Amino acid sequence: MILLTNYEGRSGVPRTVELLKNKTNAIYSIIEGIKLVEENPEIHTVGANSLPNLLGQLELDSAVMDGNTRRSGAVGAIKGFKHPIEIAYHIMTDIEHEILVGAGAERFAEEIGAEKYVNETEYTKTSWEEFLNDHLTYEQKEKFPHIRLLDIKDKPNDPEHLFDTTVYLAQDYSGRIATATSTAGWPWKYPGRLGDSPIIGAGSYADSRYGACACTHTGEMTIRAGTARSVVLYLKMGLSLADAVYESVMDLAELKTGFINAVTVHAIDNKGNYKVIALNPQKEIKYIVWHPDLKEPQVKNAEIMRT
Ligand code: GLY
Repeated sequence: MILLTNYEGRSGVPRTVELLKNKTNAIYSIIEGIKLVEENPEIHTVGANSLPNLLGQLELDSAVMDGNTRRSGAVGAIKGFKHPIEIAYHIMTDIEHEILVGAGAERFAEEIGAEKYVNETEYTKTSWEEFLNDHLTYEQKEKFPHIRLLDIKDKPNDPEHLFDTTVYLAQDYSGRIATATSTAGWPWKYPGRLGDSPIIGAGSYADSRYGACACTHTGEMTIRAGTARSVVLYLKMGLSLADAVYESVMDLAELKTGFINAVTVHAIDNKGNYKVIALNPQKEIKYIVWHPDLKEPQVKNAEIMRT
């Protein structure tokens, strides 16, 4: 049994640990934890009260994967619902698709009775207004939103603002491995942008036979490298967990074009080992691990690799 999360997921960890200790299955346990992160107002990168896209809207992404069946559910660019992770779960269980986005996802969410919510708060609005004020010309401000958003597209890489996500990876008492992710994506992203969090194989992947992987930060890179799937495939091909994560990070480090920034790769294997490597982070990267030998979940620093 094991739980591995990134530090952004800290508010849901006690609940998930309690559930895992009580022999609850890995999928339910991690979804319950992520729901607490989605509703935590102090986390500005997941769920309500996060930083919005260029139009001031919160478009949320989430995914879950069951490593026993390799069924997944993912939702992308959904607006107006409190728990994207629950909608992702219902995509996995209630419909024979693996991912729904935008208006279709919102229709599905209504049909399953998901809780509607205004995720944009005063913090969201004032941060966005400050962003517009700092980065738009007088003429752009006058015409907004009827301007070419492409003209301000380079602003999303704003070093003043964090971009993060939450990832949970768990193996339960029965050996079932599962992953789940949830994010608001990048602050000031172009509307409709999906990161890796809803892309199974890029931002997360689980296979109870071998292990699981989930990534944080620059989804534009892990989508191109198929990072989460590659780690689990390396495990299948017989690499140790450490070597599997190392190989995937080396593969990311080979990318030279497009948007290049930091990525953190989190992984577990089916024997309860864990490994977290951060590629080119701008600051120390923490993660949280719990397994039955530990009384309490532990906060640790990721190993850092630089290119
Ligand atoms: N890794 C989160 C994102 O790229 O949106």
